Amino acid sequence: MATTRGEDLLLKTLGDFTSKENWDSFFTIKGAEDPFEWYAEWPSLRGPLLAELSATDLPTPPPPPLQILVPGCGNSRLSEHLYDAGFRGITNVDFSKVVVSEMLRRNIRARPEMRWRVMDMTQMQFADETFEAVLDKGEGLTL
Ligand SMILES: C[S@@+](CC[C@H](N)C(=O)[O-])C[C@H]1O[C@@H](n2cnc3c(N)ncnc32)[C@H](O)[C@@H]1O
Repeated sequence: MATTRGEDLLLKTLGDFTSKENWDSFFTIKGAEDPFEWYAEWPSLRGPLLAELSATDLPTPPPPPLQILVPGCGNSRLSEHLYDAGFRGITNVDFSKVVVSEMLRRNIRARPEMRWRVMDMTQMQFADETFEAVLDKGEGLTL
């Protein structure tokens, strides 16, 4: 991730990355509307990710659409790119209500089937086997 000097300073304000309050402040100062991509961007992810998600050897053919969980979504554009590539069963989770409200506002018209939840990923409230894929740029893709 290439950062400007202003972004470097902003990152320092995060301090403890596990603090919800810090992430709320980060997105409030940064402005959640302006995407902030961590780790990798769509052009480098597109090929390998679409190939993996379109693989035919997923456990039992999942009913369409493939249900994908994106934990700690932030305001990355990754889910929007995936949705526009045809994946409609995307659920995004983040514990920062600042960023989730902004992402909901940003997508509700253009991507009405995409779901956004304020939720702590360490205490998720989904039933077992809700998702066929979990996507985290920091951790990779789990099918
Ligand atoms: C390093 S950013 C990554 C954002 C995005 N996935 C990306 O790749 O650009 C981490 C994100 O995870 C969220 N987060 C951190 N801990 C979390 C937790 N326990 N539950 C839900 N979201 C969390 C933060 O609010 C932040 O949006």
